[in-house]
Amino acid sequence: MKAIELTAPGLVAFRQTELPEPQVAPGEVLVRLRAATLNFADVAVATGAFPGATFPMIPVADGAGEVAALGEGVSGLSIGERVIPHFMPNWQGGAMTSRHVAAMRGITLPGSLAEYVAVPANSLVALPAHLDFVQGAALPIAATTAWNAVRSAQLRPGSVVVLLGTGGVSIFALQFAKASGATVILASSSDEKLERARQLGADYLINYRATPAWDEKVLRLTEGRGADLVVETVGGATFARALNAAAMGGTVFTVGFVSGTAVSIDLLPIIVKALRIVGNSTGSVADLGEAVRAIAAHRIVPVIDRVFSLDETGAAYAELSAGGRHFGKLGIVH
Ligand SMILES: NC(=O)c1ccc[n+]([C@@H]2O[C@H](COP(=O)([O-])OP(=O)(O)OC[C@H]3O[C@@H](n4cnc5c(N)ncnc54)[C@H](OP(=O)(O)O)[C@@H]3O)[C@@H](O)[C@H]2O)c1
Repeated sequence: MKAIELTAPGLVAFRQTELPEPQVAPGEVLVRLRAATLNFADVAVATGAFPGATFPMIPVADGAGEVAALGEGVSGLSIGERVIPHFMPNWQGGAMTSRHVAAMRGITLPGSLAEYVAVPANSLVALPAHLDFVQGAALPIAATTAWNAVRSAQLRPGSVVVLLGTGGVSIFALQFAKASGATVILASSSDEKLERARQLGADYLINYRATPAWDEKVLRLTEGRGADLVVETVGGATFARALNAAAMGGTVFTVGFVSGTAVSIDLLPIIVKALRIVGNSTGSVADLGEAVRAIAAHRIVPVIDRVFSLDETGAAYAELSAGGRHFGKLGIVH
């Protein structure tokens, strides 16, 4: 089968190769992959910053495709069915354990830049009928994380949500927050991207370059109350402002580190406002299933900024690692 391998840490170390087709073990399904999408973590893996990968490896955690063969004992799936293989196939539900973390597609297991992959049948989620393969491939990491954020804060009509930037997680969080009836305040570096966010339903827009104290603007927009949920996708540069922007009892859903992981903060806002600082590391197959059900029910269409071919894998990684050029997700089609 045709595959892209990453031969060593580095964004220029991709090579196209032919590999034997994987054999399906009992309980597994052979998936003919049709598309992949990139996450920030894929760049971290490719640059050697994410632990666990051994080279050469087939990169990219997230993908989608169709069932090509069924292993012994697999029922309830049929050849040709469109599916999304979850990138942590052993994490069916509940709390994450080290056993789940040890098996991640695109890191310690073969990823999505190959024609075929063999995965446990119970790690597959059906691709909603209104989505194509690239849109389906956008869901495992980014949509599940955004779903967990919205669920953790128990959003309801009238809740206020703050989103930072217009990357994959923020745009899914925007779509889920609007589906929940919440008011969304979104900050981006670009007026053009803010306009695109407005078209997706964002209620208030802040250019964080023009208004670095975006947290104060959030407080003004909410008459001093603050946000019920801040989805912290940025990390070091924004965490203290996220605490300031949160309402009493609000949730700072902490997932991202695009600006690093080191922070110096004042504990007082956490104590005085009784904030919930909730850490999250993507989500389980069950979480992905719930996110997909919400996406199907609300006819949510993932935002794919650009689609690259397999031959353009290096260019796709370069686009994501440039930081801040894309809006939503970047896809790679087979
Ligand atoms: N822990 C988890 O569960 C989990 C799951 C998924 C992702 N993540 C992490 O979450 C982060 C975001 O992921 P992603 O896939 O959405 O990344 P992404 O698509 O690369 O988006 C990153 C966005 O961050 C925005 N940004 C950068 N600096 C900013 C700042 N100072 N203030 C506000 N926004 C800023 C930019 O938006 P503009 O261009 O609009 O300015 C940029 O597009 C990454 O660190 C990723 O590893 C964690």
